[in-house]
Amino acid sequence: MQNKKVGLDVYRMELFAPDVAAQARPGQFLHVSVHTKGRGSDCYDPLLRRPLSVHGVDVKRGAVALLYRVVGRGTALLARVKEGELLDVLGPLGRGFSLPPAGSRVVLVAGGMGVAPLYFLAEELLRFGHEVHFLAGARRLEELYLLGDLLALEEKRPSFKPSFATDDGSYGFCGPVTGLLEVLLAAVKVDRAYACGPRQMLREAAGVLARFGVPGEVSLEERMGCGVGACLSCACRVREAGGFSYRRVCADGPVFAAESVDWEDR
Ligand SMILES: Cc1cc2nc3c(=O)[nH]c(=O)nc-3n(C[C@H](O)[C@H](O)[C@H](O)COP(=O)(O)OP(=O)(O)OC[C@H]3O[C@@H](n4cnc5c(N)ncnc54)[C@H](O)[C@@H]3O)c2cc1C
Ligand code: FES
Repeated sequence: MQNKKVGLDVYRMELFAPDVAAQARPGQFLHVSVHTKGRGSDCYDPLLRRPLSVHGVDVKRGAVALLYRVVGRGTALLARVKEGELLDVLGPLGRGFSLPPAGSRVVLVAGGMGVAPLYFLAEELLRFGHEVHFLAGARRLEELYLLGDLLALEEKRPSFKPSFATDDGSYGFCGPVTGLLEVLLAAVKVDRAYACGPRQMLREAAGVLARFGVPGEVSLEERMGCGVGACLSCACRVREAGGFSYRRVCADGPVFAAESVDWEDR
């Protein structure tokens, strides 16, 4: 297992977990206990596991990659995990992205750490021969976490077309990634869209997709308790014919049809 700093407060962890590597689909997540086995007396604090998207798999090596940003106590503890230590993970959990019909042109819209699951999805879509436009947005250049990897993938795969947006204009399009999405959809006919990032960005992306008539899927983030559908702490409101109902982000999602999410819930 490896755990390396790869950017500003961002780490890439590779776990040896052959069963997970064989089963995981893009959009699914692992529920990770942030304590390595036997690290000492404080090993129940924080008690709850932390959900992290599967960022990639290498089935031959039995490896599963996670990409995470340190935002609080749990992820800070994860960042201290060393090669050779044992981590307790549950997964793969949740329902991932659905793949489009053969020969599709798709757009992936990533805000901030949303690149983690979407990079895995891009690899899978390319494997099936789809044309992939990848839009990555961040506040500034230093927060475009996979910039090098995305540019390297473009070199290798002509059907992979990355573009970038930063709020401060330090790299690529100046403005939100949803602005870049509008520019792309005005120029290119796209069959399907996939988005992951902060809720406000997803809400705006869903609005843009609706205006252009492009079907899309969004991956939602909620604070989670159990991660397996039992505690209901991750409920989100979705629209249904004649009203609305609630779904569990951990078990019914985290991926939902963009038009089904009730964005007024919050
Ligand atoms: C399905 C799913 C997949 C995720 N995948 C990734 C990933 O691949 N990489 C990654 O870096 N993060 C991911 N996250 C978010 C990650 O789970 C949280 O950042 C992490 O749980 C924070 O734990 P902490 O103890 O460090 O922070 P805490 O001390 O628990 O919180 C610190 C701050 O982060 C905020 N926060 C914590 N959890 C979330 C959350 N779920 N959504 C929004 N804000 C939160 C809190 O409100 C607080 O402001 C994912 C979340 C979900 C639900
Ligand atoms: S986290 Fe318990 S039901 Fe989703």
